[in-house]
Amino acid sequence: MQSISDIRRDYTKADLDTDSLTADPMVLFERWLQNAVDAKLDDPTAMTVATVDPTGQPSQRIVLLKDINKGGFVFYTNLGSKKAQDIQSNNKISLHFPWHMLDRQVKVCGVAQQLSVTEVAAYFVSRPKPSQIAAWVSKQSHPIDTKQLLMAKFNEAKQKFLQGEVPLPSFWGGYRVIPHEIEFWQGGEHRIHDRFLYRRDTESQWHYQRLMP
Ligand SMILES: Cc1cc2nc3c(=O)[nH]c(=O)nc-3n(C[C@H](O)[C@H](O)[C@H](O)COP(=O)(O)O)c2cc1C
Repeated sequence: MQSISDIRRDYTKADLDTDSLTADPMVLFERWLQNAVDAKLDDPTAMTVATVDPTGQPSQRIVLLKDINKGGFVFYTNLGSKKAQDIQSNNKISLHFPWHMLDRQVKVCGVAQQLSVTEVAAYFVSRPKPSQIAAWVSKQSHPIDTKQLLMAKFNEAKQKFLQGEVPLPSFWGGYRVIPHEIEFWQGGEHRIHDRFLYRRDTESQWHYQRLMP
């Protein structure tokens, strides 16, 4: 196998300069998200969510961005999951969009606000029925002895919800991450990358600075 230290490539796809920036970073974010969709990346909406537990231990996992509204990034999950427990004790959160196939990444720091039941219910009904049923069956992040046990629970729930709509489980929900920092990173030749960090001030105005790579 090739030595790991020899695995590298050059980043030459584009430059990011002040002409391409927007006053509101959410506008630039949506432009970059559209670029990721247009480039037909797998899971262009996938983002890493980092949380911190009460001992100060960070952890991360991928979730899908499902909306951008009311000034924040929306995702859905199980409210008993590890991430939800972390958020309950510390709602400071970081998101990361790994669009490195486009020589890009976006990093977000913000706070997570739990979505209202009305918002969650509106999304839940749009999910495919098997995913709705799976939400009922999985006590996310908790141990289970065997896959067979899980599938038995799933098949049982499938029978139970054969007719009619699947109700929203009370333990299923979502979060809106309200950003106060957003960094746009565009890889550059010779590792001279372009980085712009937007910060929101106390009057909710965004300001940006170029960072060294
Ligand atoms: C591409 C991809 C998309 C995912 N989307 C979600 C999602 O939208 N919501 C979710 O709860 N988990 C999603 N997961 C699973 C999470 O990564 C994670 O395993 C799960 O949420 C439990 O995380 P936790 O134990 O840290 O709370 C996704 C995983 C991958 C690889």
